[in-house]
Amino acid sequence: MDILQDEKQIDEQRQGEVYPESKTSSVGRKLFLESYGCQMNFSDSEIVASILKADGFVTTNNLDEADVVLVNTCAIRDNAEQRVRNRLTEFNRIKRNNPNAIIGVLGCMAERLKSKLLEEEQLVDIVVGPDAYRDLPNLLKTAEEGQRAINVLLSKEETYADISPVRLGGNGISAWISITRGCDNMCSFCVVPFTRGRERSRDPETIVEEAKGLWENGYREITLLGQNVDSYLWSGGGLKKEIYSQEELDKAVNFAQLLEKVALAVPQMRIRFSTSHPKDMTDQVLEVMARYENICKYIHLPVQSGNSRVLELMNRQYTREWYFERIAAIRRIIPNCGISTDIISGFCTETEEEHADTLSLMEKVQYDFAYMFRYSERPKTLAERKYKDDIPEETKLRRLNEIIQLQNRLSLESNQRDVGKIFTVLVEGPSKRSPEYLAGRNSQNKVIVFPKEHHLAGTHVDVLVESCTAATLLGTAVTQTK
Ligand code: 5AD
Ligand code: SF4
Repeated sequence: MDILQDEKQIDEQRQGEVYPESKTSSVGRKLFLESYGCQMNFSDSEIVASILKADGFVTTNNLDEADVVLVNTCAIRDNAEQRVRNRLTEFNRIKRNNPNAIIGVLGCMAERLKSKLLEEEQLVDIVVGPDAYRDLPNLLKTAEEGQRAINVLLSKEETYADISPVRLGGNGISAWISITRGCDNMCSFCVVPFTRGRERSRDPETIVEEAKGLWENGYREITLLGQNVDSYLWSGGGLKKEIYSQEELDKAVNFAQLLEKVALAVPQMRIRFSTSHPKDMTDQVLEVMARYENICKYIHLPVQSGNSRVLELMNRQYTREWYFERIAAIRRIIPNCGISTDIISGFCTETEEEHADTLSLMEKVQYDFAYMFRYSERPKTLAERKYKDDIPEETKLRRLNEIIQLQNRLSLESNQRDVGKIFTVLVEGPSKRSPEYLAGRNSQNKVIVFPKEHHLAGTHVDVLVESCTAATLLGTAVTQTK
């Protein structure tokens, strides 16, 4: 899953992001849509906005004028859910002025808690799971008639392939494209297989068309999204098990082939993807990455733990040695590849020695970046049913701090190795700190800040890196003849 990788960053930077007001229409009912969690959730909100726009809604960022307030939620850790509960309580206050306002919860928390949110907690009027967004217009009508409305059915087919997402809140340069939904992996700590259902792959032609449409609309970077992109497999239908014969398998499109199709269809577009799974990431994918310049040299490869016994308890289906071998393959096939990871501290029964294995693995891999979490037990997961959550909170936190400290050093060292190098940056816009500076990313996904001069968002600029912090590279634009 690891697609939820961005949650920590989102926790810090985007949590509770409100989308800007739609300029398309001033009539119609007003929708206030707020998203939490992973990139997939933000991408889903764009599908929701598209479905409701077709039903006559316009988006607003002013809560007080909203007719409908929807919160797209995350259930990955307990604190993510607590934050949403607080927010829903706040939203309920708007009913004092506007008793007809409808408040709804979407996404993973809706799927996990189902009717509990309507009945016990009475926080919302509608509850809609990740596979039921097409039903939103009906559910809203039911709610408008004064009834509580719920649809949390999970689907084996739904990929929203035909829905053209309304791009919300972005920079007009980078966009997400979902390529799979759901997850079949059953990592023992993870609630996602329960909230997002079975893994389905989306028709590659619709993915290619969406990429081309984005290019025509001025987008310059796409990120292909899936909980485990490496297990993407299209065989004429979404579910993998529909492949019965060798002939069908020969016609199938795997992730490496999809990546190549997209790279060829939009040759000037930067292509990223998330998230990779160590057990499924093939050399074929790495070779396609190496072959096409427009595929960014960056892999997010969650390890979760550096110890093979813990990895087995986590049901990750690889060992420490296997992971090292995959890292070696990346370094061999794509020598300049950026690598990041997700790590969980204090999983059930983890010993000090096993925690030390995580630290030594990090040191050996030399990650450029990491998302780091302490274990949070989630209802219904394999770990909740089979193992005791026996590591005291203070131990989880102390181990997490050791992991964070180490990663801060590794990130700084990684950035220091880039000082003196020239990178092509896709400019995303003004830097957060000063309008005199621009910020963008290099192929390896590192943020680079440089003086604005005459450069424009959406263009590629070669930048010489002159200094750095653990988080950012700083430099100046150079003119190069290529
Ligand atoms: N507790 C802590 N972290 C978790 N993650 C997933 N489930 C849990 C959990 N129960 C982390 C994993 C995953 C990332 C998105 O979130 O590291 O890769
Ligand atoms: Fe990722 Fe594993 Fe969760 Fe699937 S079950 S979303 S692979 S962490």
